[in-house]
Amino acid sequence: MRDDLLGAWLVSRYGDVRAALARPALHAVPPGRTLAHLEGATHRAHRDLVDPGLRGRAVAALAAGASRTAHVLAHRLAARREADLVAEFCQWLPTAAVVAALGLPYEDTARVQQWCRDGLTHLGGHHHELDARLRPHLARRRARPGDDLLSVLCTAEVAGRPLSDEAVTGLVGSLLGGGGETTALALASFLANLLDHPDQLELVRARPGLVPAAWAESLRRDPPAPVVLRRAVRPVVVAGTSLPAGAVVACLVGAAGRDPARFPDPDRYDVLRGGPGHLAFGAGRHSCLGAELAGRVAAYGLHALLDALPGLRWAPGFRPAPQGLLTRGPRVLLVRPR
Ligand code: HEM
Repeated sequence: MRDDLLGAWLVSRYGDVRAALARPALHAVPPGRTLAHLEGATHRAHRDLVDPGLRGRAVAALAAGASRTAHVLAHRLAARREADLVAEFCQWLPTAAVVAALGLPYEDTARVQQWCRDGLTHLGGHHHELDARLRPHLARRRARPGDDLLSVLCTAEVAGRPLSDEAVTGLVGSLLGGGGETTALALASFLANLLDHPDQLELVRARPGLVPAAWAESLRRDPPAPVVLRRAVRPVVVAGTSLPAGAVVACLVGAAGRDPARFPDPDRYDVLRGGPGHLAFGAGRHSCLGAELAGRVAAYGLHALLDALPGLRWAPGFRPAPQGLLTRGPRVLLVRPR
């Protein structure tokens, strides 16, 4: 159906959303210069550059740093009577992890958080300070590369030519936006789901092997990017409906995750659910490159909180309330740490 308020065609069933996300005739909107906006051979080449830096051994190398940050943040909370997990934990940890992956100074974490609050996302946002701030780092990496992801991008060649500063900055913007706002919201929803279901939290505490399933179930039920927008670059049939070139399509990832034909009793948070995968990381050629990093950061975050704060629970009278449309999650999580 068409939604006049959003100015877009809504696609909501699981199978239709997955197919729409992967359709070559549907491109990202609004226009921008991140990976999400590239297509064809350039897109594949740039993905191939970033991908190895966010997988396997490279991500494992970040593990120690992210885990240490998680424990420091969790122990700081242990002394408090009441705290906001979003401001003091969720917003900090994922951004620090991606700042470290890129090899940027730890002190930039707070600055990147501010950029994310001002609209930097991996789905199209940009921040005017990013170029100026990165310029000296790019020059240094081009002259003396290290072993961080920024050095990989600065020394990479596509079709025999190095990436321009603008291309590198666009890629870095995607990574900082993805590592910042999106992962912070996902982590906040994850913690909210577990604190809201103490029986399941106990299950995860007793069986740490369940953490990846608990994380996936939270992404299914409460994805941080519940609407992914695309624009038809030529006439196309989507979910049985003919759309003209230029039509905007809203892929309702949040609705797909609660499609009752795919997920029985879909509103229920159930860490033992198993079954088909969620679409929170998209699907097809643009699917998220940071999924592994995000999963590791969430797992370290949860382990650190459970270790340092065995009595963690909601502050009296507090109820989490997700907010937002294109990006969504609780903006405050008031807890009693002990
Ligand atoms: C739970 C956290 C995250 C969620 C739910 C998420 C979700 C998404 C979604 C929905 C897309 C668009 C997929 C599509 O258009 O089909 C995407 C793309 C992307 N994500 Fe993430 N993301 C997360 C974390 C991250 C992190 C930590 C990074 C990097 C450090 C990252 C980097 C990217 C990049 C570079 C793209 C663009 C890929 C492309 O266009 O080829 N994301 N993500």
